[in-house]
Parts: sequence; structure tokens; C-alpha cells
Amino acid sequence: MRQQELSKTSTNATTEASAGTSAFAVWADYFEANLARHDRLDAHIPWGSASPLSSADRVAIAQSLQRFELGERGEGTGLMSKAGVRGDVVYDAALVLFVQEEQKHSALFGSALKRFGVEPLAEHWSDGAFVVLRRLMGLRTEITLFLIAETVALEYFGALHGSPDPVIRGVAERVLTDEVEHIRFQIDQLRAGFERVSPAGRMLAAAAAWTVALGAATVVAFDHGPALRACGLRPLTFWGRALRHFRLAAGPAFRLGRHAAGAAPHGPTVPAPR
Ligand SMILES: [Fe+2]
Ligand SMILES: [Fe+2]
Repeated sequence: MRQQELSKTSTNATTEASAGTSAFAVWADYFEANLARHDRLDAHIPWGSASPLSSADRVAIAQSLQRFELGERGEGTGLMSKAGVRGDVVYDAALVLFVQEEQKHSALFGSALKRFGVEPLAEHWSDGAFVVLRRLMGLRTEITLFLIAETVALEYFGALHGSPDPVIRGVAERVLTDEVEHIRFQIDQLRAGFERVSPAGRMLAAAAAWTVALGAATVVAFDHGPALRACGLRPLTFWGRALRHFRLAAGPAFRLGRHAAGAAPHGPTVPAPR
């Protein structure tokens, strides 16, 4: 039901905005086209295959996936109502489809948990803290928190992609391809959001984001350490690589250094046919 409502909202918004000039039209088109690509990729996940993982590694990965399943389950209502105030219906349409993609990730993790015979979590402190932080802040800060979560998660999904379990590998590959684009989507939104902010303001925002990113990477390295090790990645290596992903995204997102002015929006790496 919820999915149907989101699809309806998306279609209406895309139609209304088709004559507009939003820089996010390319993103709305990308997310629309991505629906068919998801179906193709999902069909290749070998759900019926046996897991070669030891029972200890299976428990470690299942406990870790439980937290990610919960984190990606949100309906994005707060995010969408904050964005709606700005009146860019094309961005709103893209945002609806973005939230749907996150919900699909949650469903994929849920299916992987079911294969392991593990129930999803009702709540977890790390998800609760993230939700409270997001609700306290405005749109730009909420998008910044998404950027932090997604750059850190990128390395986590990369680790899962190295798992000996073919289902975990398949799910990770599917989610990774989306997250690469999500990070670019958040960068474009933040670039627009910081366009009229002074260099000092942008530096301050970036410094605050770095503080949260350091905390987030550290929490994931500790909290998901057994799962990372089960996939052959040392938590300290994960920590360094996750923060490198954030550093690469923070430059263009906060318009730092050579990204200060003039650059075109990132757009998706695979533009949808127009
Ligand atoms: Fe996701
Ligand atoms: Fe994402």
C-alpha cells in the first residue's frame, strides 16, 4: 500500500515538473529507469544456493545485516516534508524514488536474514540515534547525515561483496551500485544547498560533518567488526577506507578547495535515456 502511494506521488510529481528547469530532472529520470535495472539484477541473486559460511561467520553477518535492514527501512516522511517546503517538485519526485530504493535494500537484507533463519530487529540504539539526529535538523543537515551514512556504508557493502556466500555477494553488488549513485545524488543536493553559504560557513559545516563521519566509521568498525572480519576485511582497514570515501564526497558536497565554484552537478554515472 505504502509502495503504491509512493509510486503514485512520484508519477504525479514527475509529470507536473516535466516542463520545469530543475537540475534534478536527470535524477528523477535516472531513478525511474533504475526500476527495470533492479528487476534484472535481483533476478541474478541465487537465493536457493547453500551458504558456505561457518556458523560463527553466519551469526556475525546476520547480526550486522539486521542493523542495516532496520536502518534502510524508513519511510522518509520527515525528509520528504522538509524537502517539500522548497517547492522543487522534480527534486521531490527523485527523493520519493530514492526512498523507495532504500526500502528495497531493506527488503533484500530482510530476505537474506530469512535465508539464515533470523528475524529482523524491531529497534537498535544506532538506528534510534541516527533517526533522532535527523529529525532535529533541517534538510541540508539531514542530507549531510545521509552522505555520511552512505559513504561509510559503501565500504561495508564492498566488504560484503567479498563474502564467500553467493547470496550475500549478490545482495551487496546490487546495493553497492545504488549507493554509488545515491552519494552523487546527495552531493548534488548539498552543492545546491551550500551555493550561497560563505566559505567560512561551508568550512564549519564540513568540520561538523567530519566529526560525525569519524564517529560513524568508528561505530561501524567496532559494532560490525565480526562481520567485516568474516568477509576478510580488518576493521581498521575498513575505517580508513570508509573515511576516504567520505573525504572524496565532502570536497564537492561542501564546495571545498578546487570544488568551491563553477563545477557542474555530478548527475548519475549512468544517465537515463531522455
Ligand atoms: Fe541503501
Ligand atoms: Fe543509499
